[in-house]
Amino acid sequence: MFNAFRSILTCGLLGLSTVGQAQPTPSSRRDVADLYASLCANCHGPKMEGALGPSLVDDIWKSGADDAGIARSIREGQLASGMPAFSGALSPQDTRALVIYIREQGARRRSEAASIAKPVADKPVRSELHAFKLETVAEGLDTPWSVAFLPDGRMLVTEKAGRLRVVEKGRLLPEPIAGTPDVWSRGQGGLLDVAVHPDAAKNGWIYLSYSDPGANGSAMTAIVRGKLREGRFVEQQTLFRAPPGLYRTGNVHFGSRFVFDGKGHLFFSIGERGQKEDAQDLSRPNGKVHRIREDGSIPKDNPFAGREGAIPSIWSYGNRNPQGLARHPVTGDLWETEHGPRGGDELNRIEPGRNYGWPVITYGMNYDGTPMTDRTAQEGMQQPVLHWTPSIAVCAADFYTGSRFPQWKNDLFVGALAEQEVRRLRIENGKVVHQEVLFKDVGRVRDVVSGPDGYLYVVFNDPDRLARLVPAPALEPASGKAPGAKP
Ligand code: HEC
Repeated sequence: MFNAFRSILTCGLLGLSTVGQAQPTPSSRRDVADLYASLCANCHGPKMEGALGPSLVDDIWKSGADDAGIARSIREGQLASGMPAFSGALSPQDTRALVIYIREQGARRRSEAASIAKPVADKPVRSELHAFKLETVAEGLDTPWSVAFLPDGRMLVTEKAGRLRVVEKGRLLPEPIAGTPDVWSRGQGGLLDVAVHPDAAKNGWIYLSYSDPGANGSAMTAIVRGKLREGRFVEQQTLFRAPPGLYRTGNVHFGSRFVFDGKGHLFFSIGERGQKEDAQDLSRPNGKVHRIREDGSIPKDNPFAGREGAIPSIWSYGNRNPQGLARHPVTGDLWETEHGPRGGDELNRIEPGRNYGWPVITYGMNYDGTPMTDRTAQEGMQQPVLHWTPSIAVCAADFYTGSRFPQWKNDLFVGALAEQEVRRLRIENGKVVHQEVLFKDVGRVRDVVSGPDGYLYVVFNDPDRLARLVPAPALEPASGKAPGAKP
């Protein structure tokens, strides 16, 4: 068997050299797709559909279905049945990358086979528990990022380029709100989240997060609040702004989301700005979830408030790029979603002072298919409640608290950019017990919000629009009628 494997290995490397790579690259820098093509495709087929060896995309696993079982198959082989052992040829990181790659291919195969609703032109969709229509609320937006609701029924929508827009009685007002902060609008940076204080009917406070321009092309996420008066953002106060020396260049990973805890605190997230190691560094604001009081002051009981050199607003760290934050309506727990690299998107329950591991542990690999690490767990670091490998590019998250979809009450809804989907997650005792893809492929999902009117609001990019899920009772699953049937 070893000889058979040896000849395949050699022929794979020769194959590579004929396409112009004179030297075989060291194992940990090899693209996983090349690795698969040169070492595995002969036996498992170029698309993993199976040949001499079994299919790796049919969800049938003889030697263990979990990641550890698949990694073991690759390391140790099944010599008697013709599967070589690769522990000598592949580093643990390469093996981990192959597991992720196998997961990606399996998910692709499943999503090709599945027929998931692609709601068009307000046509009703039947889902597991409720039928709904996806109804357009506002178009004509330019890369909308988030939506929030004023006590008088108007909606505020941020546009990434730096405009705060108003939707009034179903109409997008032509003029943006004047006087909002200047933003650094490049790549993923710009005007980001907007939140309305829970008691805004009395105090009027509107919170904004944005990429704040610093020296020499650098930027960092900053937080302000202000009030709306005659189309202007007034009485502005800066609540969080990092010292200028801590700003970072680069266009990626700003976070950010807000959530109030109803006890006078505001949570917000900042991505690691593409500087992986910063996520582990408590003297830097990026790669963290933060907690401040609603007026920007630092709560004394923050986990690092008294620690020399630490940013006192830090609540948790080791977070890569968190773009979803939500408070469980019953338990009050803080839930967070963050983008992983290629693989390893995470759903976390955030607890104070905890380390969520990035980049020391992750279920993902580099975007170019080269491995990052084989470590998915380590003492002293939190495991995600759930990880999506392959990545769906998980963005926003919110618990449904309305009553128009009674069976969705307290379920977590998450939106995905790359996979263009909204998922419903049922959570029981801190665990995800069920996931449903509600719909797919009508735009990149940037924000999902349970509206005060009981509808579920969704902000899409490409094409840009604000839409909402409204009940389509005639189609409720229990009715047994075909989609589109009249009552
Ligand atoms: C010489 C042919 C051959 C090559 C090369 C080969 N495999 Fe296999 N592989 C097999 C066979 C045959 C089996 C079935 C073993 C058995 O019946 O237990 C198998 C089984 C497996 C399994 C377990 C499947 C299950 O159902 O549990 C995995 C995972 C796997 N291979 C991955 C790989 C990967 C990744 C590579 C490349 C690094 C690779 N194999 C290269 C022949 C091969």
